[in-house]
Amino acid sequence: MSKKTVQIAPPKGRLGVLTPGLGAVATTFISGVEAVRRGLARPIGSLTQMGTIRLGKRTEGRSPAIQEFVPLAGLEDLVFGAWDLFPDNAYQAALKAGVLERSLLDPVKDFLAEIRPMPAVFEQRFVKNLRGKNVKKAKTKMALAEQLMDDIAAFRERHHLDRVVMVWCASTEVFLKPSAVHQSLGAFEKGLQTNSREISPSMIYAYAALKSGVPFANGAPNLTVDIPALETLALERKLPVCGKDFKTGQTLMKTILAPGLKARLLGLRGWFSTNILGNRDGEVLDDPGSFRTKEESKLSALEFILQPDLYPELYRDLYHKVRINYYPPRGDNKEGWDNLDIFGWLGYPMQIKIDFLCRDSILAAPIVLDLVLFLDLAQRTPELGRRGIQEWLSFYFKSPMVARHLYPEHDLFIQLMKLKNTLRYLRGEELITHLGLEYYD
Ligand SMILES: NC(=O)c1ccc[n+]([C@@H]2O[C@H](COP(=O)([O-])OP(=O)(O)OC[C@H]3O[C@@H](n4cnc5c(N)ncnc54)[C@H](O)[C@@H]3O)[C@@H](O)[C@H]2O)c1
Repeated sequence: MSKKTVQIAPPKGRLGVLTPGLGAVATTFISGVEAVRRGLARPIGSLTQMGTIRLGKRTEGRSPAIQEFVPLAGLEDLVFGAWDLFPDNAYQAALKAGVLERSLLDPVKDFLAEIRPMPAVFEQRFVKNLRGKNVKKAKTKMALAEQLMDDIAAFRERHHLDRVVMVWCASTEVFLKPSAVHQSLGAFEKGLQTNSREISPSMIYAYAALKSGVPFANGAPNLTVDIPALETLALERKLPVCGKDFKTGQTLMKTILAPGLKARLLGLRGWFSTNILGNRDGEVLDDPGSFRTKEESKLSALEFILQPDLYPELYRDLYHKVRINYYPPRGDNKEGWDNLDIFGWLGYPMQIKIDFLCRDSILAAPIVLDLVLFLDLAQRTPELGRRGIQEWLSFYFKSPMVARHLYPEHDLFIQLMKLKNTLRYLRGEELITHLGLEYYD
């Protein structure tokens, strides 16, 4: 039987990776890729680099590496560029971020020092706690978008790139509700011309990316590309988009634990989560507007996993609270405490305490790498790219973008199954249902 495979263009040439933001996450990602390329470290946490995928029956013993199963760009093909309102190059920015030690950064210093951030599109109103000088100036937001498009074209040309992808690694913007200017591409473009206050810098980057034929992933909880206007543009251009908010730290733990509790029908009365962190992200989140954006993103996951409407006795009265406290002494080494008040058989109460001494950017960097490679796969695969939103990448996000009529899938294990089944589908392999009755025939 011949397999029905999906058309995928080969990953020839070089792949440009652009990040708005050259802070903790972006520099940990870039330094890490270069360290791995030089054989100095291992890409732990990355599905594309270390993951395998089971094919066929359990008796067949076929579990190739994901990177051999689907045609992904190689790490050696990646070329990096960034924008930031601070002029520090990637080496200086990585030192300031304080995630990686000098002993890892110094051997790749020559490489990092060459990555200098382009002037940012920035508006203080959206990120209150930051002030920087490396910022673009123009009369209209449309003119700012055009400057970004010029940057992208110059980056493409300078490095002889075949393809480019963009991943938002800049600060969390203040909470924005979708409004009229976000509802259609026409309204949005008019808003860019007339400097609508509802259009944030991240939306201008996403617009410039899509206009330049560049797929876009959103690592922060901002609305950004999650608005009808930019979804329309992605569909028109047949470009993959995904978001929002990298799933790391406490939310990663939540989406690992909550499906397990629900699977065993254990009830939950309360889930209190508090964090102390001292990096720039923490400083930005100290502003109530930016925190609100983050809070919405963090709160929604549990609700969707637990389905209190289907299990009212177990989850209807859940009290869920999330706190983020800026505490400079900790730097990027965050501490997250969780207290879960659960109940079991006959309603008897129990408690679970988690103390996660977590390094946020260490958890985020492999996500950025996987998103870069999978978004690039999607842009070379018309069957995926023409659909715009890439729900199969929900695995990586706290609030996954999905079609408007769907609720998002938050359960990490369902998300992983969806991702792997998408890869199997692309290569004409049977989807795995775990039914397995045939083993007993
Ligand atoms: N670290 C994680 O685990 C994690 C998880 C989920 C989401 N995120 C999100 O990823 C983003 C980056 O996190 P981080 O820890 O690297 O933060 P960071 O503060 O270290 O870096 C963000 C950088 O973006 C720059 N910036 C802000 N606005 C910009 C703009 N308009 N254009 C260009 N640059 C801009 C800032 O100057 C800063 O250097 C944040 O939004 C954060 O909420 C991080």
